[in-house]
Amino acid sequence: MKYILGALCACAMATVYPALATAGTHEELGNADSGRVIYQNGKGDDVPACQSCHGADGLGSDDMGTPRLAYQVDTYILKQLKDFAAGKRIDNTMSAMNDIAKALTEQDKKDLAAYVHTLKTPFMGSDLDTLRENDVKVGVPYKGAEIAKFGLPDHGVPACKSCHGFNGRSAGRMYPAIGGQRYAYLKHELEAFRLGATTPSSEDEAARDNDYAAQMRNVAKHLTDEDIENVAAFLTGAKPVVPGNPRAPVHM
Ligand code: HEC
Ligand code: HEC
Repeated sequence: MKYILGALCACAMATVYPALATAGTHEELGNADSGRVIYQNGKGDDVPACQSCHGADGLGSDDMGTPRLAYQVDTYILKQLKDFAAGKRIDNTMSAMNDIAKALTEQDKKDLAAYVHTLKTPFMGSDLDTLRENDVKVGVPYKGAEIAKFGLPDHGVPACKSCHGFNGRSAGRMYPAIGGQRYAYLKHELEAFRLGATTPSSEDEAARDNDYAAQMRNVAKHLTDEDIENVAAFLTGAKPVVPGNPRAPVHM
């Protein structure tokens, strides 16, 4: 039954969002070398080096609440930089990204998206033991794996896999990779989308509502705190390629 629901969900997606699913596929990509210069050194007075918060290898940090950027789908990165610049997404963690993105030219944004996509840092998410030692509340990975693979049909939660792919490695150019992402960041974004389902970010900066057609808000609104902790605990350790499922995603 759970499998059937998952399959139906994937079909519904293909039917409802065909135009969106291919949007951005032919976007001009930037120059990764130019992106690297900004990533490592910043630009002028208004753009600090990205690596000072996102790490030289693009792994992000639980302490700072920054996301892993390495290997992320380039069109998704570009969209986020545009959304931050336009104020459609608010950086409610460090209040830095909106000003930074505004100070980047359109070409800079493309170059940076191209660069971080080339960072082939291995998918090693957060160390859950270290987080627990630091008194962070950590969920139960095997329970989160159920949500990622099958969803929670009783609570209206579709399988994350239907949009984000096997182990959250992304299933198309508009769907970010969420496997191997930082625990703190995953938890924070899911809470932000959940809030965004009822409250626009223009009213509450803690909300995130920049997802097309409320796709992600419609999922997050059904998740409990415990679900969020569980699915984040699973996803941070999820690898894009494992024995038995070696096919790498086409866009990577
Ligand atoms: C002062 C710290 C800081 C600096 C410097 C910084 N970032 Fe960020 N960045 C953040 C934080 C914090 C977030 C998470 C925002 C949120 O909570 O939604 C973020 C989020 C992002 C995201 C969204 C990723 C996703 O998965 O949705 C992108 C893309 C990004 N940053 C790119 C950059 C680039 C490119 C630079 C350099 C030009 C940069 N950042 C510099 C702190 C920083
Ligand atoms: C119907 C499709 C769909 C489903 C199902 C779905 N998502 Fe998403 N998700 C999206 C889209 C689209 C985005 C990107 C939003 C944007 O463009 O800013 C996203 C973004 C995210 C992000 C933010 C990533 C980042 O780097 O900032 C997280 C975290 C996330 N989803 C987690 C999940 C989890 C966990 C599940 C399962 C409980 C799930 N998603 C199910 C469509 C979906």
